[in-house]
Amino acid sequence: MADLHAMRREFAEIFGGSPALFRAPGRVNLIGEHTDYNAGWVMPAAIPFDTTVAIAPRADAMLRVRSTNFAETVEAPLPDARAPPKSGQMVHWADYVLGVAFALRRHGIALPGVDMLIHGEVPLGSGLSSSAALEVSVALAWTTLAAGSPPGRLTLAKLCQSAENDYVGMRCGIMDQFASACGVVGHALLLDCRSLEHHTVPLAATSERSPAPQIVICNTMVRHRLAGGEFNRRRRECEDGVRALTRRLSGIRTLRDVSPVLLREHEHLLDPVLLRRCRHVVTENDRVVAAAAALRSGDLATVGGLMGESHRSLRDDYEVSCDELDLMVRLAENLDGVYGARMTGGGFGGCTVNLVEADAVPRFEELIAERYAQATGHRPEIYVCAAADGAAALDP
Ligand code: GLA
Repeated sequence: MADLHAMRREFAEIFGGSPALFRAPGRVNLIGEHTDYNAGWVMPAAIPFDTTVAIAPRADAMLRVRSTNFAETVEAPLPDARAPPKSGQMVHWADYVLGVAFALRRHGIALPGVDMLIHGEVPLGSGLSSSAALEVSVALAWTTLAAGSPPGRLTLAKLCQSAENDYVGMRCGIMDQFASACGVVGHALLLDCRSLEHHTVPLAATSERSPAPQIVICNTMVRHRLAGGEFNRRRRECEDGVRALTRRLSGIRTLRDVSPVLLREHEHLLDPVLLRRCRHVVTENDRVVAAAAALRSGDLATVGGLMGESHRSLRDDYEVSCDELDLMVRLAENLDGVYGARMTGGGFGGCTVNLVEADAVPRFEELIAERYAQATGHRPEIYVCAAADGAAALDP
């Protein structure tokens, strides 16, 4: 949690005046990777790492925004609601802020010019959605200032997704922004990315024999730099797969409509790469639904087994893992008290998510850090995370 007094003081020094404060968290995904933009299922949770925004209105239509992380201030006019996407260009942190302004204005929200101070504590480039935390905190702050009350949480998430899709040029799904906006303390969120219907799944003890599992996140310290281009390419491959399958299967709109059995019956329609991509998505969808049911009934061994299958599918079929993520998962799977481990987020670096027996956590942290450092020369960061609440205004 950011030091709110320090933020107020810094805001007053840079811009003058006293700001309103808002926060939004990053997320970890327990299972359901690369399924959101295929209208499938995901099961993320918000994590107790926030981006905090201090904001106050200005009399003109300018944005003045300072990031404490980059020690940089950017001044820009509010973007036109018809601004073109940035795809193909280098993305700057302020583009996420401008992207939110773009999406909100396009949605018809009359935004005032603002001064903003942003402080992010979600580890950057680690697959824990620092960009969604930035977008959602900025959107909540700005819409509250503009209209007195923000739009509904789901609308907020959709607007932030469109900021990223249509302004930043990253064709992400809804999962990250949804988890950041709608997180519920102590719960994972099972989201149907087609209907946007969602249910909370408690991460609590279900009986004396199955106490609450702990979510432990292991950061490989490899930044997922390749992710942008490769991400958009995977998304295209899924669309190509659907196009090829519709030659015989007229009723399908997305891979959500294809079961593993149906895919097997029609695999001759796909080249080997597209077949692997599609196989990951359709099997992953089944794993999410099965994992949510198992988590509800306290069957953590089954949840863990599904997490392991998910990792192998991402590694071999979707090809978005990397040596360091594979190593971190292998190390975890050999430790006591681990139900399951897998890469989390877009891939190509970043973090693994581990479901670990509460009593086994201290030993797990110690051993995995030691063994990973021995093998790679890099000390990993380990975060033991309880699922957190989504975005909120902070008390004055
Ligand atoms: C990134 C995207 C999400 C999702 C994941 C992969 O985090 O922003 O929308 O596609 O990758 O599951």
